[in-house]
Amino acid sequence: MTKDIHFFELNTGAKIPAIGLGTWQADPGVVGQAVEIAIKVGYRHIDCARAYENEKEIGSVLKKLLEDGVVKREELFITSKLRSSDHAPEDVPAALDQTLQDLQLDYVDLYLVHWPVRRRKDSVGFKPEDLLPADIPSTWRAMESLYNSGKARAIGVSNFSVKKLGDLLAVAQIPPAVNQVECHPSWQQPKLREFCKSKGVHLSGYSPLGSPGTTWLKGDVLKHPVLLSVAEKLGKTPAQVALRWGLQMGNSVLPKSTHESRIKENLNIFDWSIPDDLFVKFSEIEQARLLKGTGFVHETFGEYRTLEDLWDGEI
Ligand code: A2P
Repeated sequence: MTKDIHFFELNTGAKIPAIGLGTWQADPGVVGQAVEIAIKVGYRHIDCARAYENEKEIGSVLKKLLEDGVVKREELFITSKLRSSDHAPEDVPAALDQTLQDLQLDYVDLYLVHWPVRRRKDSVGFKPEDLLPADIPSTWRAMESLYNSGKARAIGVSNFSVKKLGDLLAVAQIPPAVNQVECHPSWQQPKLREFCKSKGVHLSGYSPLGSPGTTWLKGDVLKHPVLLSVAEKLGKTPAQVALRWGLQMGNSVLPKSTHESRIKENLNIFDWSIPDDLFVKFSEIEQARLLKGTGFVHETFGEYRTLEDLWDGEI
């Protein structure tokens, strides 16, 4: 195990930085500053999404940093995601165009189908009657056109189970480069990781700290005794240990923070590693998915009747 895992290679040949700044729940008014700090301290990957409703503010900061020469566009890796309400194939190109306009960019490095879920166009919120049957193959064909146009340098998915990823791979002309999913020491995704690896799909981990600030998720990942003891032994913080664990599993990690000290702390995961005798202890950690996606299942509306259907049993 080499200590320095700064990049992972995608099936496009591009390199994805091993750490990206997460921007989910980074509020307007603070997200821009967080992105600026992150890039100035050395982050090169920013994980965005139209559904986070903060891409405009991120775009203003990116523009400023690029104009000021703080960073070059080719040094950055910018991810964004297709909203569930933009899944109709005819809506996909306009959705990316809007994101590019908001981010003030000519292309994104990675564009993901955010959820295997379709909602009525222009719907807001989580009303069940806005859920529609999904048609991933037709949405994916539109994603492939974006890849061919050069506006998305890689395309991928997010929140896809082994089955849904397998079904997509069976029809895709351009295979997804990435599956971005919840992944942390308390939800390690061994089957999905193996499957992704066998198919050359890179696994990117969101909520790598277990989203401790999201009260409704009740994530206590950073308080687990294994993390606390490994952190103490190595003289690192539990957050750094959780992130380093992700890197050593072969995942890129996308921690969100809007505080300078934590943004810096989370980047300090490259010049040390978790030794094998401590790494094996992570297999003792009891497993539970935090982000269940209950708003995407309904007994009448949409594609999925139950969480079993949404995750194909991976719950
Ligand atoms: P904040 O933004 O106030 O720094 P995840 O990336 O797993 O979704 O977790 C994000 C949450 O974890 C946010 O609430 C963030 O708070 C908090 N967080 C980020 N970095 C750290 C850290 N190094 N230690 C503890 N909490 C952190």
